[in-house]
Amino acid sequence: MIDKINQLTAEIEGLTAANAQEVEALRIKYLSKKGAITALMLDFRNVPAEQKRELGQKLNELKTLASDRINSLREALESTDTIDADLDLTRTAAPMPLGTRHPLSLVKDEIISIFSRLGFTVAEGPEIEDDWHVFSSLNFAEDHPARDMQDTFFIGRNPDVLLRTHTSSVQSRVMEKTQPPIRIICPGRVYRNEAISARAHCFFHQVEALYVNEHVTYADLRQTLLYFAREMFGPDTKIRLRPSYFPFTEPSAEMDISCNLCGGKGCSFCKHTGWVEILGCGMVDPNVLDACGIDSKKYSGFALGMGVERITNLKYQVKDLRMFSENDVRFLEEFKSAH
Ligand code: DAH
Repeated sequence: MIDKINQLTAEIEGLTAANAQEVEALRIKYLSKKGAITALMLDFRNVPAEQKRELGQKLNELKTLASDRINSLREALESTDTIDADLDLTRTAAPMPLGTRHPLSLVKDEIISIFSRLGFTVAEGPEIEDDWHVFSSLNFAEDHPARDMQDTFFIGRNPDVLLRTHTSSVQSRVMEKTQPPIRIICPGRVYRNEAISARAHCFFHQVEALYVNEHVTYADLRQTLLYFAREMFGPDTKIRLRPSYFPFTEPSAEMDISCNLCGGKGCSFCKHTGWVEILGCGMVDPNVLDACGIDSKKYSGFALGMGVERITNLKYQVKDLRMFSENDVRFLEEFKSAH
């Protein structure tokens, strides 16, 4: 039997096949019920007990060798077969699934595009900031609560290294370097130490706008806001300005638009008031102009700041703020048609 095993081993090592039928013939010859190796397996019953161990091992090796060899012959043929038979070089490629733009990017770009039609250009600033640009230059009093640890993320122990809580910091950076006329729009991410929920997040996005020149008036601010609201939410949109307070503007206001869901009639979204708040704004406080090296006797300006998530919610009714940062493809794909 050992001779037979050696002979078959040599034979199998040298096997070749030109096509699938030949491979199948080899399988039948060696491994089928009537194959040579199967016959040896049957003979094994008659082998004397003292040889069983050695021969059994050799037989198993032979069987593995044969099935490996035949499988690899088959695989080699299959890979060349498909290339020859099925490859159609003229066929159009399978469509590649395209990604979608993030809803916050879509809305941010739309805001930028509306303001750029009024002559505003984009300015950016760092997310890691200092106290001067985020607070002091913007007329925040020394003990203003927004400086409190509860709102602001400080980096390390140094109270002068912090994550910006608003994009208004870019205003002072630009005013320090440039003399009027200044007409900028500043999009960016901001951070606040808030517990994460459906309605609040520790980071979100804002767009700030600033116009400083000679003779800039509240009427210019109002007209700019009306243009923005109508471009963003449709030509029938109405605006109203409510008095408010920000350290860096005087007077300050908050702007509401007529609810874009019910058209101002009143619904659960606008809490039956017909109005929804969308941004803060005002005339730049002369203290801010002076702190940034701009002559407040000669120049005046207006500023406004809005949350991109807020505008996106109004346009697309996203109920939970966390959706924006979870990267759930099912959510993101809903914005395919918004491109
Ligand atoms: N910085 C304000 C905030 O984060 C938003 C804001 C309000 C910006 C009024 C302005 C402004 O430029 O004039 O809530």
